[in-house]
Amino acid sequence: MVRILGIESSCDDTSAAVFCDKTMLSNIIANQKVHEKYGGVIPELASRVHQQNIVPVVDIALKEAGVEKNDLDAIACTRGPGLMGSLLVGVSFAKGLAASLNIPLIEVNHLQGHVLSHFIEEKNGSKPAPSLPFLCLLASGGHTQIIIVKDHLDFEIIGETVDDAAGEAFDKCAKIMELPYPGGPAIDFLAKTGNPDAFVFAKPKVSDLNYSFSGLKTSFLYFLQKNVAENPAFVELNRADLCASLQKTIIAILFDKLTAAAKKTGIRDIAIAGGVSANSGLREHFRKTGERLNWNVFIPERKFTTDNAAMIAITGYFKYCKSLFSGLDITPLAKMN
Ligand code: KG4
Ligand code: ZN
Repeated sequence: MVRILGIESSCDDTSAAVFCDKTMLSNIIANQKVHEKYGGVIPELASRVHQQNIVPVVDIALKEAGVEKNDLDAIACTRGPGLMGSLLVGVSFAKGLAASLNIPLIEVNHLQGHVLSHFIEEKNGSKPAPSLPFLCLLASGGHTQIIIVKDHLDFEIIGETVDDAAGEAFDKCAKIMELPYPGGPAIDFLAKTGNPDAFVFAKPKVSDLNYSFSGLKTSFLYFLQKNVAENPAFVELNRADLCASLQKTIIAILFDKLTAAAKKTGIRDIAIAGGVSANSGLREHFRKTGERLNWNVFIPERKFTTDNAAMIAITGYFKYCKSLFSGLDITPLAKMN
């Protein structure tokens, strides 16, 4: 039995989770409300709030798990990618704790964590995990990739965005409509009462299995500017329809390439991961596409889609099994493949 503490601090969520092998005993997340009024994450503020939150968050995670820190076998932390000042807090804390307890430190790639969240087991039962190899669409605020997961720690990226991530498209278009940050959940909510066919936005032409989302944001901005010039209340009057139509376009862009990837690889076990996979429209579309194309679809619990330390702890477990430990001299990496 291996007990691992996972720590996540790559952006604006401070999180700690305690696992016993693949089973989650606790997963505590402190969100940072401070960024809401700025309409985006302010890196300097994020690192300061991580500093305040990290000790109590880890304390609560251990207490809730009923695990003493002396019973831990390893500490896993996100090394990157992410905001340098934010990562520094989690990595430094993890290094200090690993050194003081004289147990291994395990560095985790945040993106790998998102994908491996499908293997988290919960005490009161879990969803079935995909079998290897499987395809995963990872769509978050910083990344959009199609990955062949050959083994828990062996990934091949077969497509990715050449500019903005899908989450950025949600966030930036939400900002244009003066919706609160983060924009994804706000658009998701409003889209539920809107008509997805009210407006049509062009899909980009990108080669192979790659994505592009920056053009959509620009055409959305120009479309609104043109209509607001004619009617200043245009956004207000059409907000739900705009959200539903935009969401439909983002989902269509994501699935055109995912479907092509499934066809190309012949893989039928297909998963989604990352913050954007919390989107209700996307989850529904995925379910229906899976039925139509005879895929085995894997949809993560909502709580494991956005940033959390449980995904870091489960990745730490797979690395622990292979003795993939890090030196105490590691430094965070803002960019990491
Ligand atoms: O995975 P995540 O928490 O952080 C990163 O690693 O980036 O993803 C955050 C992104 C944000 O862009 C946010 O707007 C988006 O996920 N997101 C959503 C939803 N919930 C979060 N996008 C669409 N619909 C949602 N319900
Ligand atoms: Zn993330």
